[in-house]
Amino acid sequence: MSNLKVSITVNGERKEAEIEPRMLLVHFIREVAGLTGTHVGCDTTNCGACTVLLDGRAVKSCTVLAAQANGKKVTTIEGLSKGENKLHPVQKAFVDKHGLQCGFCTSGMIMTSFWLLNKKRKLSEEEIREAISGNLCRCTGYESIVDSIQEAERRMDESEEYIEEEIPARRGR
Ligand code: FES
Ligand code: FES
Repeated sequence: MSNLKVSITVNGERKEAEIEPRMLLVHFIREVAGLTGTHVGCDTTNCGACTVLLDGRAVKSCTVLAAQANGKKVTTIEGLSKGENKLHPVQKAFVDKHGLQCGFCTSGMIMTSFWLLNKKRKLSEEEIREAISGNLCRCTGYESIVDSIQEAERRMDESEEYIEEEIPARRGR
C-alpha cells in the first residue's frame, strides 16, 4: 500500500510526513515529531499511557491512526509546560502531591486530568476516579493521583497560568 502524506499540528507546530497508512498516532508523535513523553504501555487501548488531546479531546493515541489526525491539532505532555521550569499547575500538583512513582503512566494520567479539569470543576472524588478509570497505574495505588488532581483543581481555580483549550463534550474513548 502506498504511503500517505499527512500534516498534523503537534503542540502548535505543523509536522508533515509521508507515512504508512497503518501508522498509529502514538508512533507519529514519538517517531516523527520526536516527542517521547507520550508512552506506549500496551498498544491495545488498555493502559492510557499514550493519552493525548486530539482537537481538545482526550484520546488514547494507540487507538487512532495518524492518518485520522491529518489536519488536526494534537497536544502532548510537552505542550503543557512553558519551558522546563514552568510546569502547568496539573504537572506541578502531581510533583508536589507525589502523584507518580516510576512515572510511566504519568504523562497519560496528566493529560486525562488536564482534559477533565478544563471540562469540569468542583469534581467529586467519584467523578475523578471515573474519569481516570481508563488510565492504569501500577505503582501509586491511586490515592496520591486523586490528591494531585484535587490539588490541581485548587491551583487552576487560583491561577491564570494554564493553557485554555476548547474541550468538547466527552464521547466514547
Ligand atoms: S499504549 Fe495506548 S492504551 Fe496503552
Ligand atoms: S507511577 Fe508507575 S505506573 Fe503509575
